[in-house]
Amino acid sequence: MDQHPSDVLTADQAGDRERWLARRSRVPAVWARYTDLVVERGEGSWLETIDGERYLDYTSGIGVTNTGHAHPRVAAAIADQAAHVIHAQQNIVYHKPGLDLHERLPRTMPGLADGEEAGVFLSNSGAEAVEAAVKLARYASRRPAIIAFRGGFHGRTHAAMALTSSGVKFRGHFEPLPGSIHHAPYPYVLRNPTGRTDEAALVHSLAALDELFATLVHPDDVAAFLVEPILGEGGYVVPPDGFLPALREVADRHGILLIADEVQTGIGRTGRMWATEWYDARPDILVMAKGLASGMPLSGIMARRELLQRFAPGAHGGTYGGNAVACAAALATLDVIAAEGLLDNARRQGERLLAGIRRAAAGHHGVAEVRGRGLMVGIEFADPTTLAPLPELAGGLLREAFDRRLLLLTCGTWSQVVRVIPPLVTTDTEIDSAVSIIGEALAAMSASGGATPPAPPG
Ligand SMILES: Cc1ncc(COP(=O)(O)O)c(C=O)c1O
Repeated sequence: MDQHPSDVLTADQAGDRERWLARRSRVPAVWARYTDLVVERGEGSWLETIDGERYLDYTSGIGVTNTGHAHPRVAAAIADQAAHVIHAQQNIVYHKPGLDLHERLPRTMPGLADGEEAGVFLSNSGAEAVEAAVKLARYASRRPAIIAFRGGFHGRTHAAMALTSSGVKFRGHFEPLPGSIHHAPYPYVLRNPTGRTDEAALVHSLAALDELFATLVHPDDVAAFLVEPILGEGGYVVPPDGFLPALREVADRHGILLIADEVQTGIGRTGRMWATEWYDARPDILVMAKGLASGMPLSGIMARRELLQRFAPGAHGGTYGGNAVACAAALATLDVIAAEGLLDNARRQGERLLAGIRRAAAGHHGVAEVRGRGLMVGIEFADPTTLAPLPELAGGLLREAFDRRLLLLTCGTWSQVVRVIPPLVTTDTEIDSAVSIIGEALAAMSASGGATPPAPPG
């Protein structure tokens, strides 16, 4: 067996290590995690622990470190901005990185017509940006209702919980939650009750919307649809190509706004800046967070300027939104994505990853589907005939991969999907190594008859 670096620590280092490890129990259990690692530094696709062990991080901190860990250009921008001004509050003054970002980000808004301009409202977390999107839709339309989609995850504040339906753990025991929120089925081809084809799943979802309008809510009371272009927490579910365009059409018919929650799919994750760019469906409001500032807390919404301007001064805001250091990190993130061709790399590596995992998983017990777009790949475990979810296999793959120094995450309502989320800077060699680890892990699970430790929290 390999000697672990922890076996060769000096007494001092070992004492230091024990001190850090002992402190872990002070962190509240609500932060459930499946590793016990204490990390010291990160670089590109890699995380290094206080013991000097290196892990290939294909969680990207839940889809955040798109430019890789501690990209030198991002780190330098943060250091430089911190030395100038850290907090220059948005209700009081302007700051340079904020003004730059307000100019550059709107140019990325998908589907702007000639002469149209977009604007940005900046906040700190994904949930906060979802709140801003829903508030803007209600405020501007003076309509109360929002329709979200089953399996969607939108965050953990009260409105975001009410909009979320990817798992009861995110909203159970927190009622009452804000009202006027309805849910329609997301087209989930593998689990579609009327047949496992794109067409059947699409028809099923659209029919359910009609039923919602006939039974629960008048369409002209609906302010917005809120939808993830690809389900994230809900299982890395890629909808049929016709879904977002069909939703756009229903929205236009009834004067409903279309909000795309791109918190997980955005900033190049799927090989385009925004996943909605894959579809012919312009969002009215786009929600962003996660990779936006490479790990500094920054989120926001983008919308056509005339819509965004409907918010009267004071109608929305927040002390920290648009923090100067976070804005500098976001500008550096945009620079790195352009300079290093990361959208192309995400597309190319995504295809390599998807094909590789499909090859490695072929014939393995319980693998119901390998799907994804760009560097957003999911492996769903389920019984081949009943589709009963098999979270113990997803948890087993996580554990076996972890033992081989590859970090992955689960998702899906029953934690039955393993999601693979490399940073956009990942290389051919890293992808190949992750694929072979996943192959070895699946083989080890088959060899042990699928007997695996319990699934970690998703
Ligand atoms: C699609 C989506 N929306 C919203 C959120 C909430 O973001 P945050 O955790 O930053 O509040 C997430 C987080 O995973 C997400 O994936």
